[in-house]
Amino acid sequence: MIKASLQVRFLDLSITNKEDREDLKEVLERCMDHGQFVMGQEISNLEKNLAEYVGRDYCVTVSSGTDAVYLALKGIDIKQGDEVITTPLSWIATANAIKMTGAKPVFCDINQDLNLDPNSIEKVISKNTKALLTVDYTGNMADYEQIIKIANKYKIKLIEDGSQAFGAKYDGRKCGSFGVVSAISHNPMKIFGGLGEIGSVFTNDQEIANKIQILRYNGTVNKEFLKYPSLNFRADSLNAAFLQSRLKNLPKKLNRRSEIAKRYTENLKNYCLTPTETKNSQRVFYTYTIQIEDRDGLSKYLAENNIETKIQHPLLMSEQEPYADCKTYTKKASQIIKKVLCLPIYEGLSDDQVDYVIEKVINYQKSFT
Ligand SMILES: Cc1ncc(COP(=O)(O)O)c(C=O)c1O
Repeated sequence: MIKASLQVRFLDLSITNKEDREDLKEVLERCMDHGQFVMGQEISNLEKNLAEYVGRDYCVTVSSGTDAVYLALKGIDIKQGDEVITTPLSWIATANAIKMTGAKPVFCDINQDLNLDPNSIEKVISKNTKALLTVDYTGNMADYEQIIKIANKYKIKLIEDGSQAFGAKYDGRKCGSFGVVSAISHNPMKIFGGLGEIGSVFTNDQEIANKIQILRYNGTVNKEFLKYPSLNFRADSLNAAFLQSRLKNLPKKLNRRSEIAKRYTENLKNYCLTPTETKNSQRVFYTYTIQIEDRDGLSKYLAENNIETKIQHPLLMSEQEPYADCKTYTKKASQIIKKVLCLPIYEGLSDDQVDYVIEKVINYQKSFT
């Protein structure tokens, strides 16, 4: 029996599991004992383990996912005068990272799966196009077979923003292994997140890894010799240690989210457009994003029933005022954006809560028939 007055928050980041709390306390004790709060063994240990998990030669941890995307672009020398093609639908950090290198973001279209439409890339390619920045949006991998073909055909470099899909796979390869450089956010909202801001950059290219390591700390070699003027992008060692301790629980978290998504999809697929999965891939569920005509009405109705939802995002990045003059080809995206709504999905949700959300979405949709 579903209780009438359940409350469902969009996300709950409190750490209630006793074992998880003990693990984190142990990490804090260890760090207090060794006293290395900047760089040191916690950072090198995390970098080694993440590189191994993703299947890449190098991992460089940095201060946030935004900084990871920015440094990935700087690592391949993206600069003023260059154009970088990306999806119009992502958290604004993706476009900002391009802009902050001095390059111009250029926005292609998306498909119904909310990921970049490979067929629209050629519509915006120019002689200034230097890179293509994919986003594995909502946890669903981009269509890399098509994307890699196009990147190779035009000799443009591929950068992957895998911030929302850590743990996902495409053609047997992990998210984070598709770009010349790939960037990941581990902010606390992410499925594999720390207890604060942290990001990671992955590559197989030693020269790029070295450059990013130098850029990470004011562009210096051995702290004293300046190579490329930069800022401080180092991750906190304590946070790196917390993140490392959470790696072992990642499969459990991914599974629980997939179970919730399955429950939503089985029950809602006749009432709205439910999330899909790119061919040859195994997605994760960072968000569970449905598409529905009366998105605002449904969101209001769910709020009245104590269910929090989120519109991610109300605007395409290309619709944001500072990007109004960028080259765009966003025909489908500008329609799709009006319909997206994220339902709550996180490990702490009970089946009762999920069923309560399902019941209310169905009630609302049935009220029109
Ligand atoms: C796709 C994408 N890129 C970049 C970022 C930025 O990451 P951070 O918040 O760690 O700076 C996010 C964060 O939400 C994201 O979802």
